[in-house]
Amino acid sequence: MALWGGRFTQAADSRFKQFNDSLRFDYRLAEQDIIGSIAWSKALKSVGIITELEQQRLEKALNDLLKQVIENPQQILGSDAEDIHSWVEGQLIQRVGDLGKKLHTGRSRNDQVATDLKLWCKDQGIELLAHLDKLQQKLVLFARSQQTTVLPGYTHLQRAQPVTFSHWAMAYVEMFERDYSRLTDSLKRLDSCPLGSGALAGTAYPMDRDQIAKDLGFRRATRNSLDSVSDRDHVVELLSTASISMLHLSRMAEDLIFYNSGESAFLDLSDQVTSGSSLMPQKKNPDALELIRGKAGRVYGSLSGIMMTLKALPLAYNKDMQEDKEGLFDALDTWGDCLMMAEFVLDDMQVHEETTREAAQGGYSNATELADYLVAKGIPFREAHHIVGIAVVKAIELELPLEEMSIAQFKEIAPEIEDDVYPHLSLESTLAKRQAKGGVAPEQVEYALNEAEERLASR
Ligand code: ARG
Repeated sequence: MALWGGRFTQAADSRFKQFNDSLRFDYRLAEQDIIGSIAWSKALKSVGIITELEQQRLEKALNDLLKQVIENPQQILGSDAEDIHSWVEGQLIQRVGDLGKKLHTGRSRNDQVATDLKLWCKDQGIELLAHLDKLQQKLVLFARSQQTTVLPGYTHLQRAQPVTFSHWAMAYVEMFERDYSRLTDSLKRLDSCPLGSGALAGTAYPMDRDQIAKDLGFRRATRNSLDSVSDRDHVVELLSTASISMLHLSRMAEDLIFYNSGESAFLDLSDQVTSGSSLMPQKKNPDALELIRGKAGRVYGSLSGIMMTLKALPLAYNKDMQEDKEGLFDALDTWGDCLMMAEFVLDDMQVHEETTREAAQGGYSNATELADYLVAKGIPFREAHHIVGIAVVKAIELELPLEEMSIAQFKEIAPEIEDDVYPHLSLESTLAKRQAKGGVAPEQVEYALNEAEERLASR
């Protein structure tokens, strides 16, 4: 059943209908559309458009439909309704006859779709918060198990200073915590109800819009009807939040892909999240991680897509806005899948502690320690830095790590260097010195872990 037609003498061209219809993707708003319709039936009763009995009949029919939809949402796709709003109304009329035709009094698909989409965003947001939370839990668990695993820390992909695997994992906890807070924040901002804004100018019936908002679980009603039907800031915000989080996921994926590579061999990914090559029997490819890295791209695509669609749209509703859904659905599905997959990858990862330690020991990543040692002997840092540079060149010539150079060899470079230098060059001392807040010293990592565990347990 089409929702309009009185003004038309010709049927829509089937190619136009195919182009225009949105049911094939907006069927995902079925639950929200039905729940919104129940709230609207209550509002209609409150202004005397329908009687109490009629409202009850509508509500019952809508609840039956809701059950049916929850059981089998795919059934909707068999219909040739224009969109989910037409489908729900059509189903209702089939069930309750002419009474169903009263439901759309004072309502427009413009405030309806805006409401449905916000309700969907709220539901989805809560699920995504749970995913972000679970991934953080997994990272913290991993960090707990890796407090003594030394890992080379990199800058410019060159070994820079040793860290621990624990400290690495906690860095990602920070990123996903910011994502969590960003998502919480966007959910707060979108928590206002557009229903009762009509097509653009407000509904002509004296309804209590705050009551409608309350019935639907929103914090308040929106304030301006023009804005209500044309605001898609929440779509942009959720896509931005998803994009930033995918950026974090892709960096984590990239780190792990590198750690899993034959070149570093710091860890082995589980067979459950890797795949083989059709040609090369020896291969075990980090597909799960590569897909996380790759899928970041399509999420950014959805973000730029909606920005371009919304840019310079005149007020109020325009059909362009129907383009908001596919990208949003796809991006949030993708984000959720990637969060889940990242958690899965961390679940069963074998770290090669010997190899990471050896790598951390190499690459002259204790050079800063030698400079600090000279500083303690009274040499200004800039000078110490220069001296150690010369020491590294010499060590490379001798094919020795710094800690294996003899005192005589050191003295040729700096007479200040004594026997007490060696303990300063050990990995443990390098880590232990980073005691300032946020540093890699075991006590600091312990502190960070405790803090994260507490935070996660209390929400
Ligand atoms: N299917 C449309 C959308 O997703 C909602 C309908 C509003 N249509 C209209 N002609 N005013 O945006």
